[in-house]
Amino acid sequence: MAGLLKSRTASVSINRDPGAVYEFVSTPENLPRWAKAFCRSVKPSNGEWVVETPQGAVTLRFVGKNPLGILDHQVSPAPGVEVFVPMRVVPNGSGSEVLLTVFQRPEMSEEQFAEDVGLVEQDLDGLKRLLEERAPSATAASAAGGERVIVKRVLPDHPIHELIATRWSPYAFDSRPVSRADAHSLFEAGRWAASSYNEQPWQYLVATRDEPEEFAKLLSCLVEGNQVWAKAAPLLAISAASLSFKLNGKPNKAAIHDLGLAACSLTFEATARGLAVHQMIGILPERVRELYGIPDGYEAVTALAIGYVGDPSRLPDKLKERDLAPRARRPLKEFVFSGRWGRASALVG
Ligand SMILES: Cc1cc2nc3c(=O)[nH]c(=O)nc-3n(C[C@H](O)[C@H](O)[C@H](O)COP(=O)(O)O)c2cc1C
Repeated sequence: MAGLLKSRTASVSINRDPGAVYEFVSTPENLPRWAKAFCRSVKPSNGEWVVETPQGAVTLRFVGKNPLGILDHQVSPAPGVEVFVPMRVVPNGSGSEVLLTVFQRPEMSEEQFAEDVGLVEQDLDGLKRLLEERAPSATAASAAGGERVIVKRVLPDHPIHELIATRWSPYAFDSRPVSRADAHSLFEAGRWAASSYNEQPWQYLVATRDEPEEFAKLLSCLVEGNQVWAKAAPLLAISAASLSFKLNGKPNKAAIHDLGLAACSLTFEATARGLAVHQMIGILPERVRELYGIPDGYEAVTALAIGYVGDPSRLPDKLKERDLAPRARRPLKEFVFSGRWGRASALVG
């Protein structure tokens, strides 16, 4: 076992918000666009990524998507050999700092180490150029490298968690599928939502584009206006609520509320994984009941389109406009009251 290794941390300042930078860098398909010294092409393989480098194929395993900007990865140039590469995006003023540490492994000469550091610096410069190419607007950031990846990070009036600032409901979805692991985690997140009396009134019907018949069946339960765009999402779900308590059959007034909490957990888990969710009230509940045999006492409430944000330029004009429009909200004083309905609370004044 080697002692302490010599190391160099290369870094670059990028004039883009950390959420957008993280989103771009944590998507392995983007590697050939910016890590040109390292990556010629990349393809998924059994939960890992196989990267063609100038020195041959290596496998790459990223730490899962996370809200901390951590991009650590393991590079495996040969079976049984793993090289740990710590990498991180951190806020730097209104922009970002991207840091990557290179270790001088025992088999590396000084020259090889210096060359590796040089190549990393070159790639980080490439990343900076690419991401700064088109400056982001306040809320609808445009993207990098040909395809447009929209990141609609809001500028909140008060600090909020990055996940809340970057969650949004896109109309354009990419064809990239949602992995089984991500799908598990999304519903697992929903599972742990709070609910009145821990009744857990949520149920889901799901279909992926890999099963065209099932997908078409679920899609047919959406109103036409939603079908137009939701058909591109790789994963569709319909949420349903059980409307009465299992224990005593009494109506559960919190059922729809708690179904919303589960949707909220699921949606933020998706955001943390670089996925997006677009919820829909525009469904045909009676058609869902008929096609899926929903029993009495349960009600289909919403649909959820789940996937990676896609390129809005392929959308009909009206939807494209919505995808590019900034996200807007009423100010706090319009809905946080004290003393009397409608009187803005001093707490938020
Ligand atoms: C319960 C619920 C139902 C919704 N129904 C629809 C719908 O049927 N069709 C649609 O295009 N968007 C629908 N939306 C998306 C909203 O229009 C969207 O969340 C809202 O405009 C705010 O945008 P943002 O999510 O990007 O912040 C729905 C959202 C929620 C939470």
